[in-house]
Amino acid sequence: MNSSLASSISSLNSVAMGDKKADLVLKNCNLLSVYTKEIISKTQIAIINDRIAYVGLNAAHTLGSKTVVIDVENKYVSPGFADPHLHIDQFVLPSEFAKKALLCGVTSLFSDPIDIVSILGYKGFQEFLKLGENLPIRIFQVVPGGLPVDAKFSNSKTLSLSQEKSAVKHPHVLGLGEVFSWTKVTQRDPKTMKSLSTMLECDCIINGHTAGISEKKLNAYVSSGILSCHEPINFDQVLERLRLGMWVMIREGSIRRDLKEIIPHILSHGTYINRLMFCSDGLDPLDITKFGHIDHCIRESIKLGLKPLDAITMASKNNFDYYNMGKDLGGIAPGKLADILIFNDLKSFKPTKVFVGGKLVVSHGSVVTQFKKKVISPWMKKTVKLKKFSKNDFLIKSKKKNVIANTIFMQNEIITKIGSAELHSKDGIVSASLDYDIWKVAAFDRIHGTNRHSIGFLENFGAEIGAFASTWSFHENDMIVIGSNDSDMAIASNHLIKNQGGLVVVKSGKILASLPLQFAGIISTDSFEMVSSNFQKIISTIVDLGCKFTRPHLIPLFLPFLALPSIRILSGGIVDVKKRSYIQPIN
Ligand SMILES: [Fe+2]
Repeated sequence: MNSSLASSISSLNSVAMGDKKADLVLKNCNLLSVYTKEIISKTQIAIINDRIAYVGLNAAHTLGSKTVVIDVENKYVSPGFADPHLHIDQFVLPSEFAKKALLCGVTSLFSDPIDIVSILGYKGFQEFLKLGENLPIRIFQVVPGGLPVDAKFSNSKTLSLSQEKSAVKHPHVLGLGEVFSWTKVTQRDPKTMKSLSTMLECDCIINGHTAGISEKKLNAYVSSGILSCHEPINFDQVLERLRLGMWVMIREGSIRRDLKEIIPHILSHGTYINRLMFCSDGLDPLDITKFGHIDHCIRESIKLGLKPLDAITMASKNNFDYYNMGKDLGGIAPGKLADILIFNDLKSFKPTKVFVGGKLVVSHGSVVTQFKKKVISPWMKKTVKLKKFSKNDFLIKSKKKNVIANTIFMQNEIITKIGSAELHSKDGIVSASLDYDIWKVAAFDRIHGTNRHSIGFLENFGAEIGAFASTWSFHENDMIVIGSNDSDMAIASNHLIKNQGGLVVVKSGKILASLPLQFAGIISTDSFEMVSSNFQKIISTIVDLGCKFTRPHLIPLFLPFLALPSIRILSGGIVDVKKRSYIQPIN
């Protein structure tokens, strides 16, 4: 998509000297300089091809008969924003997400397609790279660094060391994604250490995930070449990481929102901001519509007291410095790629114009460029490898009349603890009990075509529905089915087989809401608007029917996620996370 600086220097130099004419000149810019933290009025910016050749007060010498001149009329001009860590392999295709991100001024996305890899392996990773190429936005990728989450229980696909090595040869693959199993680092797991040293030998970046560690474990992690983290949830964690030479991405996205906790302490402590960034870690369609993206982080941080130029620097320059791309991106200066935003004021931070590589892609709040339609190979839309279900597939049998169930008790949408409930069996069958808020929950391997599955009980869900099922679950992507009766659980499961993925809510034999996710069972091929509407319907249906939580879609998403406490369900069984052992659903 972009020229290399090496191949452009002669042309850029010629325009800067006036020996060659610019393609585009922006005049009367109030330039937000991320290099000096100044607002420089009356600036003129000359661009040739996709790069900036000249920044100064008089670009007259770069003007030719074909030069397009745009009078910015003293509006504010900043470099494009970046999201340094997010998962775009969710909900919508990269092209659909890109349109929304561009409207928020985000011109570079650093994607970690961990779930695509967990489902489709290396071949899927390569195909996913193509979906992010030749779009009017920059999408960089990393090789997922956290798979399998725990080889003892996980069945997710992953990349071999040789595949990782060949992946990083791709110009848009920058290194290794969040290494979230820090125990594999502190215990020097051989494959992990080999992977880290391979990345370092290739001069690649390694993204971190240091939730809950400090002191000697954090030192061991950092000394292994992992220099960033987006997991700090308070200022002490931020400071400890900065002091050890790490870069910190403050997360503000659909999984967590940490800005409000952290920014006031950054200000009161006078913390050096040049190693701080904002990241989303993933945004669902409703959140990006409601809040925005990195523009939201800037607005919120300024409301909390951060200076606008510091917020802009955290949203732009720092990201590219971290990824060793500072010679090409991050600021408005000669030689840089011309990713430029224009704002009316320093409050809304919604750009009126967005340029990517010198091309206008957003004007007056609308995307004004074409997105080429991408072909998704049919094999990537056949990932729910399950046979048709009957209600008998969800039975839990016991010869005892009264049983004690080990329930997965939902403390919130994400965190679980072990619960206990006395249940009665009838004709040897133990059923869920809506009266006591006890639900069946099942996990099925839908990726490998095996019959592997497990069924147990879940507590404290609350919605008066028959079943809620999903094919998207971090990072196992088992099909998860929660239900009050076996018949609706079978209907929900069969609906997801028919659609080859998605989320569905069923009550009394009827489909109440459905979000099809046909691509790998985690991404829809529908428009952003259609996905948004279907997703909203899933949430409101479950919430309106009494669910105890406002974001019920997170329940199946996190139920198999072994990196969080306390009890998880995977197709291989119910797992006690701390003891790293299976537990039985009933005693
Ligand atoms: Fe992440």
